[in-house]
Amino acid sequence: MIKKVLYKVLPKKIIQFLQKKKYMWIAKNAFDQDRKRFMSSVYSFNSSLANLEAQIIINSHSIEKGLTNINFRPGFGKRALSDLVYNMEKYSERTEVINSEVFSNAINIITAYIEKHNNLAVDVSYLKDIVQKFKVSSDLVIDCNVVNNSKSGKIKESHLDFFKFSNSRSSVRDYSSEIVSSKELTNVFSLANNAPSACNRQPWQVHVISDKNKITEVLTLQKGLKGYGTNIQKLLLITSDNRFFSNVHERNQGFIDAGMYSMNLLYAFKYYGIGTCALNAELSKNTEKLIRDILSIKNYENLVMFISVGKYPNDFKTTKSPKKSINSYIKYH
Ligand SMILES: Cc1cc2nc3c(=O)[nH]c(=O)nc-3n(C[C@H](O)[C@H](O)[C@H](O)COP(=O)(O)O)c2cc1C
Repeated sequence: MIKKVLYKVLPKKIIQFLQKKKYMWIAKNAFDQDRKRFMSSVYSFNSSLANLEAQIIINSHSIEKGLTNINFRPGFGKRALSDLVYNMEKYSERTEVINSEVFSNAINIITAYIEKHNNLAVDVSYLKDIVQKFKVSSDLVIDCNVVNNSKSGKIKESHLDFFKFSNSRSSVRDYSSEIVSSKELTNVFSLANNAPSACNRQPWQVHVISDKNKITEVLTLQKGLKGYGTNIQKLLLITSDNRFFSNVHERNQGFIDAGMYSMNLLYAFKYYGIGTCALNAELSKNTEKLIRDILSIKNYENLVMFISVGKYPNDFKTTKSPKKSINSYIKYH
């Protein structure tokens, strides 16, 4: 009632001003709630079993990634290994069930690390105790070694049926010096263009960086490909455009739509025989500002992810990156 009267008596400008205030207040509450919920679950401030599992996965991945490095550094990853062992110890103190997938994957990756170093006659005997201590049951032992690939094998995967195509996708972090042409990029973008999005808004933008100095500059700030990324031919930055959204309830939609589009891009590159690695855009405020300046990214764009792009080398290694079993995350209602 009061609202109706106010609408009648107040000038339009005042109504718009009040509405804006109200939307800002709703938005503030929504972002505050997000912040609280996020911080009450993240592993930096919490230590549930799920938090520990997450850290074990991350530490393990950094070791398996190092095992695929074309500039392999014997003895690499001391910090990740020490964190991994620490988290495994903590995990085992909390539960009898150390035969979890995550745990056995970690042991397998440490075992692969030991084997690789034994072959090079580098002493890593300090790791044997942890493997002995947490010996996992043999049915959970899977091959966690790196995957050896050839260019011809990878190209053959391009046109396999979707079952094999999808199962053979993996991140490729180092490339050959062969160029990725504009025609190839156009083919890829045309194929990826069919991605779904909420209300078909397609709020993504793609920045294609070809200048090698800029690629180095951006990746030095991004940090996720440090020690990898030989011969990157193109670096893409996928952003989402906030101008396509109306209110705070849609605050994550751009990330979701651009994320779906990015997945389509990864598949489209694979279809055209080109390797990719998705790269995070988890940046501090200052780093984000620097990258925005380098690439002239508009204020209305959210940085969603980078994607490194290049042709397959003749022989190269990729991580196995074992995936969780579907039962570990699917809940039927
Ligand atoms: C959004 C996103 C960000 C990623 N960021 C990085 C990164 O910064 N550096 C990196 O080497 N890999 C990055 N990756 C690749 C993941 O490490 C990789 O997808 C994961 O280990 C699974 O391996 P797979 O892609 O070979 O199946 C990222 C992947 C995604 C989807």
